[in-house]
Amino acid sequence: MAEPTIEDYYLEERSFPPPPEFAETALVRDRSLYDQAEKDYQAFWADQAAALTWTKPWDTVLEWDLPFAKWFVGGQLNVSYNCLDRHVEAGRGDRVAYHWEGEPGDSRTLTYADLLDQVQRFANVLKGLGVTKGDTVAIYMPMVPELPVAMLACARIGAAHSVVFGGFSSDALRGRINDASCKVLVTADGGWRRGAPVGLKGNADEAIAGAPTIEHVVVVRRIESEPPMTEGRDHWWHELMQGADPDCPAEPMDSEQLLYLLYTSGTTAKPKGIMHTTGGYLTQVAFTHKYVFDLHAETDIYWCAADIGWVTGHSYIVYGPLANGATSVMYEGTPDFPDKDRWWSIIERYGVTILYCAPTAIRTFMKWGTQYPEAHDLGSLRVLGSVGEPINPEAWIWYHENIGGGHCPVVDTWWQTETGAIMISPLPGVTATKPGSATFPLPGISAEVVDDAGTKVTKGGGYLTLTRPWPSMLRGIYGDPERYKETYWSRFPDRYFAGDGAKVDDEGYLWLLGRVDDVMNVSGHRVSTTEVESALVDHATVAEAAVVGAKDETTGQAIIAFVTLRTGNEPSDAHGQVLRAHVATRIGPIARPKTIIFTDDLPKTRSGKIMRRLLRDVAEGRDLGDTTTLADAGVVDEIKRRAATAPTEE
Ligand code: WT7
Repeated sequence: MAEPTIEDYYLEERSFPPPPEFAETALVRDRSLYDQAEKDYQAFWADQAAALTWTKPWDTVLEWDLPFAKWFVGGQLNVSYNCLDRHVEAGRGDRVAYHWEGEPGDSRTLTYADLLDQVQRFANVLKGLGVTKGDTVAIYMPMVPELPVAMLACARIGAAHSVVFGGFSSDALRGRINDASCKVLVTADGGWRRGAPVGLKGNADEAIAGAPTIEHVVVVRRIESEPPMTEGRDHWWHELMQGADPDCPAEPMDSEQLLYLLYTSGTTAKPKGIMHTTGGYLTQVAFTHKYVFDLHAETDIYWCAADIGWVTGHSYIVYGPLANGATSVMYEGTPDFPDKDRWWSIIERYGVTILYCAPTAIRTFMKWGTQYPEAHDLGSLRVLGSVGEPINPEAWIWYHENIGGGHCPVVDTWWQTETGAIMISPLPGVTATKPGSATFPLPGISAEVVDDAGTKVTKGGGYLTLTRPWPSMLRGIYGDPERYKETYWSRFPDRYFAGDGAKVDDEGYLWLLGRVDDVMNVSGHRVSTTEVESALVDHATVAEAAVVGAKDETTGQAIIAFVTLRTGNEPSDAHGQVLRAHVATRIGPIARPKTIIFTDDLPKTRSGKIMRRLLRDVAEGRDLGDTTTLADAGVVDEIKRRAATAPTEE
């Protein structure tokens, strides 16, 4: 038998069927959506698209010229109409779209009618600055309501937006503006972070100094500062809005019109401008937002705690929730200001029923301890979501018990910037979940695990692939169709290769194993970093772990583990031995880490993913590569110090 592509060690046997009282009122209670999609996936997606308002019906559901897809060809619709006008026209203008909370504690409530008014005015502002259909507008903002307003205003007039996360540097902003030749930049004087105002306009100015296509800059005043304003180029948002015409009809757009670019920050190479278009994208984000979170729009208070600068925010703070007429919470700042219970106080205050966040946040809360959530009434919650990284089973259990009170289904949602919307996830009213598994592809989606040769794996580890087009798939990399083909469609014929390892268990559940670049080779065994990390986090003292392979003369690679303990536990050599033994019993002696380095923090990207590349550099004693995407550069120095003295087991 061939060597397994990635080995399958970690066994997680706990299973959580949907609670009966949840299933009783769930939108999906049986397998009919799956059955319908299995019969004819295009007809299934056409049914979902029909839930939107189209000004012209489509002629063809799908044109598939691998790897280029067009969905709902010939159809026309407007995204901002679907997110705003149709709710207002249906008499729901008074429904709250966003309960917004600033970090200092200020708040704003925007109804659908308010949002529509703001969006129409800002759409006219953009027109007044010369933005027309087909242009691209750069947006570089903190988490303030003007951010979704700017995005929707672009969509209203057929301009694409390119949102650049507000934590990025001026270099990153400049590169993205230039790649898409943006004419207008929408930004702010700054935002609030950990109790202090952080300026943004200075970065924007630095970026624009090397971005000749920018003609106008619109600046939201958020921190009451007086940044330098360049005459004729820079304009205050509030001044332009005062004089803006309140009526701006939504332009019908072709289904395949570009809605936005979003750059994925590959850790080394030039960022890729991922292209998302109109009809298929909105169809899938609306469908998934409604069914994965079991949204009852009249009663739910939904909170996605991501930043809009990432795809999670685009799809699940802006477009999905608004298309569904949902009421959302939007929060500007950090989870530990003024104290480590900020999230739980928000949930209690607004009565949040659905929470969607990342494993990195959950593991941070684990580290801080249960006293913070315990100080608040979280009884309103009924669904919990996770996205961004594999969620370790223990973190899943912690979330389920300490945040969900043991009664909320946890939906672990696998997807990517490139997929645009959730692809693999439970449906909370029907799927029995297993902690750490994203379970099954959603109706209409087809995913398979394959081995090195591209042969389907029915049990065990391999590579995650998608076998047919889906409505919200990326339409390419802006300006680089060859790179699009090469990156996603060349490794396996006729399949989209996501770059992730995965395994299938004997019940067909999918378990994501992290990026394949992170797989280690120990004495010829291909061990997933995710599995060893989960075995470490399984120990009661561990909050977070990052595992990498470092070159080793005897075993090829040796397993090096960076471990953050939960508050109240002290690192020691003896404790390192306990953890090694724990991994050995949990997965097997092969996975026993050679070195354990205790550290208070791990290097993460600004979206919260552990940067294993940097940890490999540390483990192999190399000079550090590019650290520009790191959220907190100081962390690495600390880890280097710890690594230099960590005991190693031979
Ligand atoms: C990569 C995509 C999807 C929006 C945020 C991230 C990892 C994402 C999961 C999950 C295991 C996950 C994958 C994927 N990932 N969700 N539920 N379980 N891994 O978007 O920055 O484009 O990252 O995040 O490795 O390929 P992104």
